[in-house]
Amino acid sequence: MSDSSRKPVEPFKIKSVEPIRMTSREEREQIIRKGGFNLFNVPAENVFIDLLTDSGTSAMSHFQWAGMMQGDESYAGARSYFRFEKAVRNIFGFKHVIPTHQGRAAERILFQTVVEPGHRVPNNIHFDTTRANVEVRDAEALDLAREAAYDPDDRSLFKGDMDVDKLKALIMESGAEKIPLVMLTITNNSGGGQPVSLANLRAASAVCRESGIPFFLDACRFAENAYFIQQREDGQSGRSVLEIARDIFSCADGATMSAKKDALVNIGGILTLNDDALAEELRNNLIVSEGFSTYGGLAGRDLEAISQGLEEVMEEAYLEHRIAQVGYLWELLHQAGIPVYGPPGGHAVYVLADRFLPHIPSDQFPGQALSIALYREAGVRSVEIGGVMFAKKDEATGKDVYPELELIRLAVPRRVYTLTHLEYVADSLISLFERRNTIKGLRITHQAPHLRHFTVRFEEIG
Ligand code: F0G
Repeated sequence: MSDSSRKPVEPFKIKSVEPIRMTSREEREQIIRKGGFNLFNVPAENVFIDLLTDSGTSAMSHFQWAGMMQGDESYAGARSYFRFEKAVRNIFGFKHVIPTHQGRAAERILFQTVVEPGHRVPNNIHFDTTRANVEVRDAEALDLAREAAYDPDDRSLFKGDMDVDKLKALIMESGAEKIPLVMLTITNNSGGGQPVSLANLRAASAVCRESGIPFFLDACRFAENAYFIQQREDGQSGRSVLEIARDIFSCADGATMSAKKDALVNIGGILTLNDDALAEELRNNLIVSEGFSTYGGLAGRDLEAISQGLEEVMEEAYLEHRIAQVGYLWELLHQAGIPVYGPPGGHAVYVLADRFLPHIPSDQFPGQALSIALYREAGVRSVEIGGVMFAKKDEATGKDVYPELELIRLAVPRRVYTLTHLEYVADSLISLFERRNTIKGLRITHQAPHLRHFTVRFEEIG
């Protein structure tokens, strides 16, 4: 929060409401057991406050809803496409604008076209879907964030930055021809939702240009990142978020984006770039599975909602509240002594589950145990980002290796919850912290070979 004495006031009023229902403790107990202690198995109707993700969960404005009535559903050359193209170009500035049904479709189309077996694709930290889209091509996805990204107590302001020395070393070692593109994720979702500085974007871009490697941004949360630059980076405070965003994209050759985040919509994605020949190949790929190049798997009305959302997300009153709201939840928890990853990121608060539950060892999944306890206590859904999601078997020893950070993520949907809701979440976690010794570890009873967190089942130990 920029001014800790003032609570962030919502810069909107509520026109349409969706009731949420508080379940009883007994109901939740039954629901958890039936779902095998996995919150992906809980029907959303039985969740009071849903902080599972900020993706596709935004509330749309009345302008967006009105825009949807004006959707042009023509198969080719719809008016809504041209509005979308103009809205994306106004911010991103790239020549070609391709709609996709969500972020991972943009990633698949791009990587299927440019990534070959044996290639290496660096990022600050790959999000799961970009990693998966690189790995299905039999290529290697490398994370080159600075060490600070993995230290929850390091209070540097741009912990999303890429380690540019590591990038240079990688290019030296592998040769530029093995690196079909460099990606940078803004903000860095897999690293605490931390922003990347403009200085770092420029430095990474310069290295790529010297080596002739295309530089792409994973731009899901670009507006939040641009706002952090305005607030935190030397020499940037007098500039508008739009100017900063344009500067960000001027460093790159293209971008993929899940519109489900900073375009304030429930579905959609964007693939945008300058290279004419590559754009033609991508459109040919698009048409096979997503649709014709002027709708890419979306309805005309979706394109209208995205175009309007991209304008609204650049409004500084919106961004000031958005970032302050997440900072407020972070501050409430931090003040109460709850271990949280710092500083606060853009879209979520990450709780350090291993420090919250020091009596639960890694192989009994403290993050999962904490997310279950929070649901049991208060009907709040979070997501585990730790051993369940990321533990890997070491081929040599046969032992499980656990990730450096054992977290639960409290992702805050955009324009959906009020401060009172967030205070309720904080109070619930604080009361749980006082009784943390009663929380038990978990043992896996069933798991899938890939992306096990979606379907894994557990039993409670003891
Ligand atoms: N890149 C990043 C940085 C993301 O956070 C996501 C989605 C994607 C790409 C993929 O976009 O879902 O539209 O296909 N993140 C969501 C989350 C799912 O909960 O963090 P998508």
